[in-house]
Amino acid sequence: MRHRLHSKDLSYDEILGLLDRATGFLKTVRGRERLNLAEGKILATLFYEPSTRTRFSFETAMLRLGGHVISNADMGATSSAKKGESLFDTAKMVSTFADVIAMRHPVAGSVAEFSTGSSVPVANAGDGAGDHPSQGLLDLFTVQQEKGTLDGLTWVMVGDLKNSRVVHSQCTYLAHFKGNKFVFVSPEALKMPAEIVESLRAQGFEVKETEDLESVMGEADVLSDTRIQEERFASPEEFKKYFGVYVLTPALMAKAKKDMIVIDPLPRVNHIDPAVDNDPRAKYFAQAEYGVAMRMAILAELLGL
Ligand code: CP
Repeated sequence: MRHRLHSKDLSYDEILGLLDRATGFLKTVRGRERLNLAEGKILATLFYEPSTRTRFSFETAMLRLGGHVISNADMGATSSAKKGESLFDTAKMVSTFADVIAMRHPVAGSVAEFSTGSSVPVANAGDGAGDHPSQGLLDLFTVQQEKGTLDGLTWVMVGDLKNSRVVHSQCTYLAHFKGNKFVFVSPEALKMPAEIVESLRAQGFEVKETEDLESVMGEADVLSDTRIQEERFASPEEFKKYFGVYVLTPALMAKAKKDMIVIDPLPRVNHIDPAVDNDPRAKYFAQAEYGVAMRMAILAELLGL
């Protein structure tokens, strides 16, 4: 039995395998079809933190594979966690009912802790500011589909790079590919963690850091946008210092390459002007469709299908 807990656990070949498998599932997703690969199998989605895309995406993926879903979108308030049940015991229980589990939790490391009690595979659906392995994979899949390659691209990552588990996951995966350059754009207090920057540089990647998005828009092949995440700040006052610091506008898009693409895990919280939505380079809604295909690939792999 294997879990999908950390982006760093995947090898280059495993990433390529999942990208290939997801490509095969795109037709099913776009055709809104249902396979019978996972017939009789049950996915449990346990979310201790809010979600729109990730939970519905995992559930849609399981239903399109032909399986079934049991779900709790508010575990902290409505499961026996509220009565004090441990993550280990919850895992023991839920893995009695389900064949695979997707779990989100606000505390980094808690999905791994949960997995120690599970007798079935567990997929990390986001743990605090730690990791979001399935999102990182669907982001790579989006870029591969839209740009035709994952090598030799300049990635401009902007926003709360300190707390965004999504950009952390992207960097971990991208380190397997050749010739990419990284430009990290954030306020000084929300910089990409030093260990990620140092690790990329030690592996030979060019990394630039700046607070000025406008000055680097023209360099991007991929703009990996992230919101400033209120839930990661110690106080509303601290969050307000950074809210609205980067807003993607048509004026900024005009400075970018004609074939640049914008990806973003969303939700949108003031950081993308809706006027950008109709720009053909904006791929943040298309990402949701790629995400279902990638999560079909992840679930199929975890279930040994
Ligand atoms: N991309 C993402 O994780 O979105 P949700 O928080 O809505 O799941």
